Amino acid sequence: MDVIIRPDAASAEALTAEIIANALRVKPNLTLGLATGATMEKVYQRLADMNKAGALDFSLCKTFNLDEYVGLPAEDRNSYRYYMNYHLFDRINIDKRNTHLEDGTAADLEAECAHYEQLMDEAGGVDLQLLGIGLSGHIGFNEPLSSFSSRTRAVNLTPTTMAQNGPYFDPAKGEKMPNRALTMGVGTILDARKLVMLVTGERKADIIAAALEGPMTSMVSGSAIQLHDDCVVILDEAAAAKLTLKDYYRSAFENDPKWDAYRNI
Ligand code: GLP
Repeated sequence: MDVIIRPDAASAEALTAEIIANALRVKPNLTLGLATGATMEKVYQRLADMNKAGALDFSLCKTFNLDEYVGLPAEDRNSYRYYMNYHLFDRINIDKRNTHLEDGTAADLEAECAHYEQLMDEAGGVDLQLLGIGLSGHIGFNEPLSSFSSRTRAVNLTPTTMAQNGPYFDPAKGEKMPNRALTMGVGTILDARKLVMLVTGERKADIIAAALEGPMTSMVSGSAIQLHDDCVVILDEAAAAKLTLKDYYRSAFENDPKWDAYRNI
């Protein structure tokens, strides 16, 4: 695993966007795994800007998102389909038919999840999976005790996650956060050929230190990325605050030739 610490959130987001953009330039028909959450909004903005400037082409790209709330249709402003259309898909030249999220309104959720796994298989698997981390340690919506071999399925959200994402839902408008979601499993995520995790902000410092430097445990689903042999984690200084090997990560980034093109981003 590589851990890259950038001075601030903006440079961490820029580096993340550049890694994704380069992967797409190398493989125009990339299968991209995408994440939602506030952390990713600026990454998508940067990718959309590159697309608009003619520097990035999404016409052959396929996408699979990590997760979706149970019960929220695409047109609900709190659904992750809505988020993805708003922040990325409606701003780039992607064929919407190549963009996939689980359908949280499906009558048979188990069948929907099996179908989602099948679609990923048919697409040849995910080349690059973008990840954030929740305050509960989740990747996707894999809450504590999610098996490291779990596949796409319906899950129950923890009080921590309800508290983290609850404020996006406005009770005055009749909005209520679902307490269930569909998510790629930890095992599904680990099947991606490359993982790119972006974590910013002081409030994530404890959980990211547990995920990266703590023991691998299903109590912190994010710790499962330690099992992946092609994984980069990009942090800002605030999120990196509780890491014990910061100096080592910094010198590795400065010295490893594979990061030559990325140091001045
Ligand atoms: C949601 C998503 C996760 C994401 C997390 C972090 O819960 N299911 O995939 O990593 O949010 O969100 P934020 O970036 O808003 O902190």
